[in-house]
Amino acid sequence: MNEETLQSIAKKIITDYKGILAADESMPTAKKRLESIGLESTEENRRQYRELFLTTEGIENYISGVILFDETVYQKDSTGKLFIELLKEKGIIPGIKVDKGTIDMPLHPEEKITEGLDGLLESLKKYYELGLRFSKWRAVIKIGKDLPTDDCILENARILAEYAYLSQKAGIVPIVEPEVLLDGDHDLEKSEEITTKVLKIVFEELREKKVQLDGLILKSSMVISGKDCQIQANPEEIAAATIRCFKNSVPAEVSGIVFLSGGQTAIQATTNLNAVNKLNPSPWKISFSFGRALQGPSLEIWVGKSENISKAQKEFTKRMEANRAANKGEYILEMEQ
Ligand code: 13P
Repeated sequence: MNEETLQSIAKKIITDYKGILAADESMPTAKKRLESIGLESTEENRRQYRELFLTTEGIENYISGVILFDETVYQKDSTGKLFIELLKEKGIIPGIKVDKGTIDMPLHPEEKITEGLDGLLESLKKYYELGLRFSKWRAVIKIGKDLPTDDCILENARILAEYAYLSQKAGIVPIVEPEVLLDGDHDLEKSEEITTKVLKIVFEELREKKVQLDGLILKSSMVISGKDCQIQANPEEIAAATIRCFKNSVPAEVSGIVFLSGGQTAIQATTNLNAVNKLNPSPWKISFSFGRALQGPSLEIWVGKSENISKAQKEFTKRMEANRAANKGEYILEMEQ
């Protein structure tokens, strides 16, 4: 039997043009998503929402890992099978969101830090026993007037490094996610400047903690114009700026880089991912770890009704196909027809 290592797990996740499904909406986020289609966020409705995606036929052809929320780890599909067992049978690696969300940063009222380090090693060991093999921690960085502050970047980077260290100690591959938010009217140049700075500091802290970079996945935002910026950069400009940013900040050893969608529309996220991969971004493999950009369109079709499940799953398959094509740099808009 092959010995499982952080490196071998990471390799299995970043493989064959597959990506990660971020099905790890926390309680408040799940509530927001379900209420947007007129559903109450009950445990059963959240279970059905997860089931819609996790039982889609052929999911394993596009998805190598699924990030779960703690509640889902113990939930079962309609046939009574634990979701994590279902995933394992399909050869998909189950992962887990381990941060506990953000709080206001002391003395920095407009900025956030992420909580969850207390008791983390014990939780990670428990998840390992259950068969989960990767984890995720999200930090948020906001661009604005005099933002982000150096204090905020450094504090979040230190916490991310501590998390990644503990995760590897438990045999679990960390997905380190410093998300630079899309909110604001900043331009592409500003986004590149801040994202580069954040990533540089994150990797300094990871090195300081002696985290194994070849047993870690970076989950990054794309370098993109702020949502309210008057002049929106096109996909080619976004791709060039994103790759330049990574070349200036991300060590070659990291196992892979995956993108969050961060509020881009599904088609935007896929188009931009495609533009990045068209540039052949070696030395890294670059893929997706989308939440909304994979699930959003299906959620709107499903609206909690069993008669819509099959149509919603078809839509999910379409998004997965489109994103796998984008990982090859072969996505074209006609695929949306
Ligand atoms: P979005 O793709 O919806 O941004 O979610 C990805 C994620 O995991 C954020 O932590």
